[in-house]
Amino acid sequence: MAADSLTVTDNRTGQTYDLPVENGTVRAIDLRQIKVDPDEFGMMAYDPAFTNTAACRSAVTYIDGAAGVLEHRGYPIEQLCERSSFLEVAYLLIFGELPTQPQYERWVFDITHHTFVHEDLKEFFKGFRYNAHPMGMLLAGVGALSTFYPDAKKVEDEEERYMAAVRLIAKMPTLAAFSYRHNRGLPYVYADNDLNFAGNFLSMMFKKTEVKYEPDERMARALDVLFILHADHEQNCSTSAVRSVGSSDVDPYSAVAAGVAALYGPLHGGANEAVLRMLRRIESVDNIPDFLERVKNREEKLMGFGHRVYKNYDPRARIIQHHMDEVFEATEYNPLVEIARELEKRALDDEFFTERKLYPNVDYYSGIIYESLEIPTDMFTVIFAIPRTAGWVAQWMEMKDDPEQKIARPRQIYTGERERDYVRVEDRDGPEKIVGPPAKRPKRPRRGA
Ligand code: CMC
Repeated sequence: MAADSLTVTDNRTGQTYDLPVENGTVRAIDLRQIKVDPDEFGMMAYDPAFTNTAACRSAVTYIDGAAGVLEHRGYPIEQLCERSSFLEVAYLLIFGELPTQPQYERWVFDITHHTFVHEDLKEFFKGFRYNAHPMGMLLAGVGALSTFYPDAKKVEDEEERYMAAVRLIAKMPTLAAFSYRHNRGLPYVYADNDLNFAGNFLSMMFKKTEVKYEPDERMARALDVLFILHADHEQNCSTSAVRSVGSSDVDPYSAVAAGVAALYGPLHGGANEAVLRMLRRIESVDNIPDFLERVKNREEKLMGFGHRVYKNYDPRARIIQHHMDEVFEATEYNPLVEIARELEKRALDDEFFTERKLYPNVDYYSGIIYESLEIPTDMFTVIFAIPRTAGWVAQWMEMKDDPEQKIARPRQIYTGERERDYVRVEDRDGPEKIVGPPAKRPKRPRRGA
């Protein structure tokens, strides 16, 4: 019996199996040999929502949730936020190492020179309703990009992969800003190559009649730090969606569109929006004790607290806090921050939260910063998608190069009927209930129609 193995006894048959253990895991396929009858399919692992299943090997992002550690390619997030820039972190995620000076210059040049989108895509955006949700527009826009770059379907071609990485990272802010300007009926603003990545995004969002938009350096830096903080977070819902869709060999634009769709959901990208709504509802510091009582009575949830992986202070939340004062120097003070800080202090002094290891997560303060930058609430998830594109691309490339990966295809436990005989509709008995909402009365044909 190997030392690194798990011995399983099947009490149905009394038979014993040795399953190799590697990296603290057993291979689910090794369970298949466990059968009662030699003709049956064999045992599977059942894991709805993949709460305890590793679906890949990855060298991109390391998280230790108990210790509150987040590293990209081995570099602590604190150092990256302090000393790096979003585009450098994007390079690190995708290519595995920090770039040398010439590599970095080439990378920044390529991203800067691919920020424009085809004019037809602008027309495509004009087709949305004035009040279309910006995330819906972004989702459609990213999917539409694949039609402009048909060669991206050559997913094994290194040059095409590089170009797709560059285009996706470069054009995401442009599409995001278009969706914002569309909602406001403002003309779309083209990229300004003199500005850095975050500064250019602020220009595409907020430029009005001035000949040149000069972004506030403190605001641009705070936004760049937020971009670094959201660049990747290993196998979350949207990243798994990108990997799963990309495993069909579809082009990377379509795979990333799947990531945008997953991020759109309120359980994934939308919590910072909920934090703002909660703080507004609390209204003043005096109402905090009542609010916390309601949380403890399960009438409310303390949004922006708790995390599936972090059972300690989310390191990203700590970094955001450091940058808040910088933002408030450049913008109007946001009174919600006072409520947020006091609420955090009182929650962390309360056994209900400490016993359950509930600490502020990345979304607790990020919404307040976005709001101070005058970014409307429905744009928060769109802003999240901009940096996360780097993580999606990095994970997509890693998946493509992994010889163990194939098209993603989970199994199921079938719970339905079997082997029924078809009965003609007029011969069927069954419940009278009609499925669907009450039928509308058919419209009378218009006169003259
Ligand atoms: N407020 C009050 N109670 C909470 C909260 C909260 N925010 N989060 C968890 N709990 C309680 C929960 O009721 C449970 O209590 P008990 O054991 O007595 O039943 C206990 O803490 C464990 O919680 P859980 O729901 O089992 O934990 P989970 O890992 O399934 O959920 C979570 C994690 C993030 C969904 C949850 O903490 C939550 O809903 N938080 C608020 C929403 C939020 O801020 N989401 C953003 C997450 S960070 C985004 C990112 O990383 O991309």
